[in-house]
Amino acid sequence: MQYDVVVIGSGPGGYVSAIRCAQLGLKTLVIEKYKTFGGTCLNVGCIPSKALLDSSEHYHNAAHSFATHGINVKDLKVDMPQMIARKDDVVAQNTAGIQYLFKKNKVDSLEGVGSFVDKNTILVTKADGKTETISTKNVIIATGSKPTALPFLPIDKKRIITSTEALNIKEVPKTMVVIGGGVIGLELGSVYARLGTKVSVVEYLPSIIATMDASLGKELQRVLKKSLGMEFYMNHKVTGATAKGKTVTVNAENAKGEAVSLEADYCIVAVGRTAYTEGLGLEKIGITLEERGKKIPVNAHLETSVKGVYAIGDVVAGAMLAHKAEDEGIFVAETIAGQKPHINYNLIPGVVYTWPEVASVGKTEEELKASGIAFKAGSFPFKASGRAKASMDTDGFVKVLADAKTDEILGVHMIGPRVADMIAEAVVAMEFRASAEDIARICHAHPTFTEALKEAALAATDNRAIHI
Ligand code: FAD
Ligand code: NAI
Repeated sequence: MQYDVVVIGSGPGGYVSAIRCAQLGLKTLVIEKYKTFGGTCLNVGCIPSKALLDSSEHYHNAAHSFATHGINVKDLKVDMPQMIARKDDVVAQNTAGIQYLFKKNKVDSLEGVGSFVDKNTILVTKADGKTETISTKNVIIATGSKPTALPFLPIDKKRIITSTEALNIKEVPKTMVVIGGGVIGLELGSVYARLGTKVSVVEYLPSIIATMDASLGKELQRVLKKSLGMEFYMNHKVTGATAKGKTVTVNAENAKGEAVSLEADYCIVAVGRTAYTEGLGLEKIGITLEERGKKIPVNAHLETSVKGVYAIGDVVAGAMLAHKAEDEGIFVAETIAGQKPHINYNLIPGVVYTWPEVASVGKTEEELKASGIAFKAGSFPFKASGRAKASMDTDGFVKVLADAKTDEILGVHMIGPRVADMIAEAVVAMEFRASAEDIARICHAHPTFTEALKEAALAATDNRAIHI
């Protein structure tokens, strides 16, 4: 069989790229080694984690804020098997959706592991050991990533687990240690803390979500401690963990070099993800991985050192995010079709789906200071928002950073209710190179959370916020 494009991997990078290729008239095949399409994101990432975050948020609200709203619930309890079953159903709906989209767009698919014979020939090895050889003009590698393991900390997948197993615990643990105060640790830690688990986060750095604007991590840590009782062991380097029966002991070293030991029912290791290239046979076509991060090196067209072989998503440099993978998938499809697409890497938003949510786009205050760019900052706290008072979601703020001379918005950083959705307005504004005053003069519906962005923009403009 001769294809224009073979895509290896059906995550958000691969499946979106395949659909765009087909839309552009390219004969396209997707090879996926997993039984269902959708990769990490749909099967064990974005979608199942958000399903559990939603369920646990409902429970937490029913337990802690319904009474204040005047709603009394008797005999409230968590039905964990049902919560997991609903999550599985959400995943099944989404993965089946990809199957439907492939059919609709006439994208072919094969189940098996794809590996290079040469740059135009891909061997597909199926679960039963049978093989099939495919010829293609172009290849898009979209094989994603897997959880990073610490060399001194073996994961037994029972008590010492990764995010994948953490999506399937069929009980509410009494205690849990999360290694890593990054996105996965805080999202999954929140799920269990909301359900009643005592969650302790052990983080190597002095702040959580350390790659985002420093003010966000500070506020999130304060709120998670206050509202969910999460404990934070900052500046702690984990040195090992052992599981004995139903108990895990996690050993760490604090900033003074003293040994600290924590016991829990489960330990989630969430210290980042590593590019996944095993079994691809990259050596057969002469691709060498980057020393740091083991990513596939690509040029500005996302083409590898081999002509006609592209790589996208988690397997290449940059943010390990589903929407970044999707945009790169579209970019490569259009490049192969002879178009001249563009990605603005500065404007890829980052979101953490805790409560309050955290969302960010553009430069952080720390980045602007480090690069010597003069800027103005305007903030607006949700406690001054009428909408936030009505829903009792008054933690957090919106911060707008704008160029001191031109007023162009350089960064927007938010923590608060529904900011995961609110950040889109900032991305659009920045893509059109809006000034802070542009947002300040645009009419925002009242009462909405989005008014906080308008007020922060007013504050950045000339300290003109109305409601603080
Ligand atoms: P993947 O989604 O990893 O897909 C790669 C696919 O390739 C897999 O299906 C794999 O089986 C297949 N494959 C690998 N090798 C081969 C081979 N040789 N042959 C055939 N198939 C192969 N990102 C967000 O933007 N928002 C979120 O809310 C979010 N939440 C997350 C929550 C969790 C718990 C995790 C773990 C991740 C989350 N992410 C989130 C990150 C997101 O899942 C990834 O950035 C995204 O899935 C990367 O897409 P991808 O297409 O590059 O690779
Ligand atoms: P991460 O990089 O966000 O966080 C890992 C944390 O672990 C860091 O803060 C790091 O300092 C810490 N750490 C590393 N080694 C340690 C040690 N020995 N002891 C203590 N702490 C240690 O990685 P995470 O949370 O695993 O997520 C992986 C990827 O998945 C991220 O790149 C993220 O983009 C993506 N993701 C995105 C989500 C979203 O968009 N909402 C949700 C979940 C994951």
